[in-house]
Amino acid sequence: MRIFQEGKIGGLALRNRVIKAATYEGMCAERGPSRSLVRHHAELAAGGVAMTTVAYGAVSADGRTFAEQMYLREEIVPSLRALTDAVHAEGAAVSIQLGHCGAFTKNRELSTSRPRGPSRGWNPYGAMVGLARVDAMDEAELERTAAEFAAAAGLARRAGFDAVELHLGHGYLLSQFLSPATNRRTDRWGGSLENRLRLPRLVIARVRDAVGDGFPVLAKTNLCDGFRGGLEIDEAVEIARALEAGGVDALVLSAGFVSRSPLFLLRGGRPLRRMIGVEPSVLQKLLLVAFGPFAVRRYRFEDMFLLPLARRVRDAVTMPLVLLGGVSSLAHLERAMDEGFDFVAMGRPLLFDPQLIARYRRGEAATSGCVVCNECIAEMDRPGGVACARVPAQLEARAREVRAGLHLQRPA
Ligand SMILES: Cc1cc2nc3c(=O)[nH]c(=O)nc-3n(C[C@H](O)[C@H](O)[C@H](O)COP(=O)(O)O)c2cc1C
Repeated sequence: MRIFQEGKIGGLALRNRVIKAATYEGMCAERGPSRSLVRHHAELAAGGVAMTTVAYGAVSADGRTFAEQMYLREEIVPSLRALTDAVHAEGAAVSIQLGHCGAFTKNRELSTSRPRGPSRGWNPYGAMVGLARVDAMDEAELERTAAEFAAAAGLARRAGFDAVELHLGHGYLLSQFLSPATNRRTDRWGGSLENRLRLPRLVIARVRDAVGDGFPVLAKTNLCDGFRGGLEIDEAVEIARALEAGGVDALVLSAGFVSRSPLFLLRGGRPLRRMIGVEPSVLQKLLLVAFGPFAVRRYRFEDMFLLPLARRVRDAVTMPLVLLGGVSSLAHLERAMDEGFDFVAMGRPLLFDPQLIARYRRGEAATSGCVVCNECIAEMDRPGGVACARVPAQLEARAREVRAGLHLQRPA
């Protein structure tokens, strides 16, 4: 089957066509990897994926959405190295997603008095912690941000990662610049699509300089933002063309804007009860009870839900493309290949069963048991980090790790 044949991204050979999508793990020790994070990715690697992706490594302390998140710095290189070594020992490659939250943050450890994004505005997500107002970044900050992406990518390479994935989607900083809804600048960084692309392009150029030719640079981009006034598919196609010309090696095609349409990128269940359960602040709990049903809209799940829009990008570029979103069964994987995609990325099905690809390969299964309840979204905020709420063995294993303190220990 084609899905089990070798593939290539940039200079990197991958043992098959399945990539574990970045799913925030909640397994950081002192804002760096913990032993739980290493175990998590080694398990995914042992389960047969070609490449696993460490989720959301912020490129700077101010690029964190919340304070516990990992940010890349020299001090954590030995821990990252322990992680990449553990994945390589299982025969898989490992990538890290590099991001900056921009205006979407509730990190009270910011070095600036307000969050910074493309334009002045509001950040309802940070309202409860006094971060409701947003300021516009100035030219010097934009240059510095691009340099931070480059430094983070260089550091990732030195720590043994095989690739980096730049987060250009889901409403984080680079997506805030691309989206006409959040980028209302009137200077050369806003307005036309050409201008809105300027920061992402600068970041890519700086990252390429830092990692050199041949080192794979992927970008996760939006096919659409999922709300009126946001980015739509016609511009997304132009963005894909620009990224191809700018030297990106592969695109991971996603959608959605966490601050505006949180479940658009997932579809399926709305885990409000569990989200209320894990929320530590009583006030936030009450707000979720009162406004959650209105603020968090439901979206019907469909198999391969991004395929119709992703086809538009497939027709426009020749670079490797990664199909994502509701891709779960063996038949979906083969269909993605038939449709001309080079790789697939899977999130929830691999959280449900990290061994899934090995089972597919051995002919022991052809479908995933994930029911897209999305309870894993809430679970990632519990001590010990993300686990499938429907798999008691995972919840027990997490409890054992927490008792042993592995979620708080650095691997090196
Ligand atoms: C628990 C959880 C955490 C996630 N965290 C991230 C993240 O940190 N970065 C990101 O780009 N996407 C994140 N996602 C989105 C996934 O990468 C993926 O786009 C989405 O789950 C759809 O793919 P799927 O249908 O295979 O699950 C997350 C998804 C889940 C379920």
